[in-house]
Amino acid sequence: PSLEKDFLPLYYGWFLSKRSSESLRKTGQAFLDELANIKAFKKESNKYFGQPPEEPKLKIDLTSYFVKRPPGVLHCTTKFTDFGKAPGADDYAQQDIVKTSYGKSFFLTISALFITPRTAGARVEMSEQQILLWPGDVDVLQPAVSLPKGSRAHITLGCASGVEAVQTGLDLLEFAKLEKAGNKGEEVGEIGGGKLFSFGNGMWMLLLSKKIEVRAIFGGYYG
Ligand code: 2AM
Repeated sequence: PSLEKDFLPLYYGWFLSKRSSESLRKTGQAFLDELANIKAFKKESNKYFGQPPEEPKLKIDLTSYFVKRPPGVLHCTTKFTDFGKAPGADDYAQQDIVKTSYGKSFFLTISALFITPRTAGARVEMSEQQILLWPGDVDVLQPAVSLPKGSRAHITLGCASGVEAVQTGLDLLEFAKLEKAGNKGEEVGEIGGGKLFSFGNGMWMLLLSKKIEVRAIFGGYYG
């Protein structure tokens, strides 16, 4: 054993290829543009997306609303290790599966796109093989709501001003919590790409009729 501790990354995850990343960003933008035109969305965007009250009919520009977009290629965080300081960081990094998967390429499946007043993201549906890389301690909403393994898996597409990226996963867990309670959302209609569901409180999800496959490399981000 070496005398020095391994130097852990800020986080581990799947990093999309440049091509997949650009394509998913475009799909996300198209979704935001289309959503902003939906009657049912316009009706409540006022309340949840800070539309100026004097202009209730003004179409909100969601692309500029989610002003904080990830720099570089998009990614799906598996474990936020915070250079080794985060709880469970060493346990995660020491797993054989993490070591042997490092630098390997994968296809990730995206099953849905979602927005809340805080974040916009893509839901990642992992294969059984990919779930092996998913940490056991992250699918938890405080206080004490445990959700099925992988419920948090997502790719952040954007955050509203003042919102940190960590929020996207928490927002997706919030959707998962509603789904677990039997709330599948209210179907608003069919739009380009799939069926649109409203979950209330400014939470919207597009279930893709054709799931998106993206290419990604598993690895660590050192900042
Ligand atoms: P996310 O976009 O996948 O949510 C660097 O900050 C990255 O680590 C962010 O993009 C965010 O990924 C993730 N992240 C930051 N803080 C985190 C936390 N406390 N728990 C889990 N993921 C976090």
